[in-house]
Amino acid sequence: DEGLHPASYPWPHSGILDTFDHASIRRGYQVYREVCAACHSLDRIAWRNLVGVSHTADETRAMAEEVEYTDGPDAQGEMFQRPGKLADYMPAPYPNEEAARASNGGAYPPDLSLIVKARHGGADYIFSLLTGYIDPPAGVEIREGMNYNPYFPGGAISMARVLFDGLVEYEDGTPATTSQMAKDVASFLSWAAEPEHDERKKIGIKAVIIFSSLFTMSLVLKRFKWNTIK
Ligand code: HEM
Repeated sequence: DEGLHPASYPWPHSGILDTFDHASIRRGYQVYREVCAACHSLDRIAWRNLVGVSHTADETRAMAEEVEYTDGPDAQGEMFQRPGKLADYMPAPYPNEEAARASNGGAYPPDLSLIVKARHGGADYIFSLLTGYIDPPAGVEIREGMNYNPYFPGGAISMARVLFDGLVEYEDGTPATTSQMAKDVASFLSWAAEPEHDERKKIGIKAVIIFSSLFTMSLVLKRFKWNTIK
């Protein structure tokens, strides 16, 4: 049973020359940190990945240092705790899948690093899922502990609605409506799934400019060289 097909939203980064909306990525990181990170890991993103994308190096270092990491063994063979640094990866909410399931009624909150690529509909799906919680239609029974969401395949999802108006307070003054937070976290997760996206498009533009000028030059040269024969 497929879920309801999400609408196709005009993401700022959709066009072939468009880069991400970095202010939105920054707000989306805040939503991930304050809301989603309670249950979902983001294994493939290190603190350093945020530098120059959503935060400065100093801001990122300060955020990393707030987290305790287990490191070691040291010279005495002991493990020890130390504050995070830029090279560390995002801390996971649970030590392993069993612990994650035990805390979520048996369901597993998937790692969100590649979720935008892994799910049909990508960012449109994430946005629709987060904003799509409604009462089940007449005749549809939802088990205890499950929630109705028409965008989720099967309609019954164990993640409850998590976004509500005003849940976070954005430092840039953007009103944190449910849909604003859903958009921002979907932008953030789109970036996380493809951190090289902006660079790829910028290099693409350069390649098109360079190769089209080389091609034009070769045409001119060819005409010039064969001039006497034609
Ligand atoms: C599943 C996103 C917050 C628990 C999911 C899925 C996504 C997602 C994309 C996968 C749906 C699918 O399989 O197609 C988010 C985002 C959050 C958030 C962006 C923050 C805005 C939370 C929180 C919890 C949670 C706070 C725990 C209280 C779960 C669980 C599942 C899940 C248990 C598995 C659902 C199932 O398979 O039935 N979430 N989530 N999520 N999430 Fe979240």
